[in-house]
Amino acid sequence: MFQLRKVNRARKYLKFITNFLFKLFQLNLRYKETRTDYGIEIFEYFYLPWRSNEKFKIIYDKVSDFTLNPQSRLYTIFENSQKYLREDTVFIEVGTWKGGVCGLVSLANKEKNVEIYACDTFSGVQNSSSRDSFFKDGEYSDASADDIKKISKIVNRNIHVVEGIFPESFQNINLEKNISMAHIDVDTYISARESFEFISSRLVPGGLIILDDYGGWFTDGVTKFGEELKLIEDYISIPNHLGQLLIFKK
Ligand SMILES: C[S@@+](CC[C@H](N)C(=O)[O-])C[C@H]1O[C@@H](n2cnc3c(N)ncnc32)[C@H](O)[C@@H]1O
Repeated sequence: MFQLRKVNRARKYLKFITNFLFKLFQLNLRYKETRTDYGIEIFEYFYLPWRSNEKFKIIYDKVSDFTLNPQSRLYTIFENSQKYLREDTVFIEVGTWKGGVCGLVSLANKEKNVEIYACDTFSGVQNSSSRDSFFKDGEYSDASADDIKKISKIVNRNIHVVEGIFPESFQNINLEKNISMAHIDVDTYISARESFEFISSRLVPGGLIILDDYGGWFTDGVTKFGEELKLIEDYISIPNHLGQLLIFKK
């Protein structure tokens, strides 16, 4: 199967095609990329389990109108939640937008007694700073607490809504259970760092935080925060190069 000469030739073609595609993206966005560590790469990886997993496909159909995330990243959350979201604990999402991820986690863990918290300003991205080259405040301001009520009905589970800038928005909430899994999807450095600090202090050992936007083309603030996290001894941080950093508490 593996013939080095053919593989090398295919890699050359791929490089040409992906460079061309990346130029097209930039033209379309009227943005010229100058950073050398950004581009399109077709990883030589062809296993796409989200296409064949029947349980995932059924859940995806129910929640897809309520999330901006692609199937690949949702599958990471789906698969890991079944293992790391423990009985009698809490799942929390910061930056929930219309709540699709909370819906997905609810359905993937139907049989477990867990509490689900959906946190968002519902007025868009906050806390942009000099570390974020692209985000200004206010993006994604088109979701509301009503969307969470709708998804809650679809998945038939109570989802707690926490409105406001996290973590201030959570100060008066007394969690009776520990957090075993979280999804942070907030687009800016400060929001990602503050969300992580708050959640990680309440996370069980072995618990998992998935940091979205790590490596995203226009979310460099979150990537910078992820790079800092990778150096901290208390956590095991693994990038999956789908746009997520998986962080396990030791
Ligand atoms: C890209 S969207 C999230 C997408 C969502 N997770 C999904 O699956 O579709 C980013 C969200 O983060 C929210 N956000 C950003 N910073 C926040 C903060 N500090 N507290 C609460 N919500 C925040 C924004 O309001 C926005 O809805």
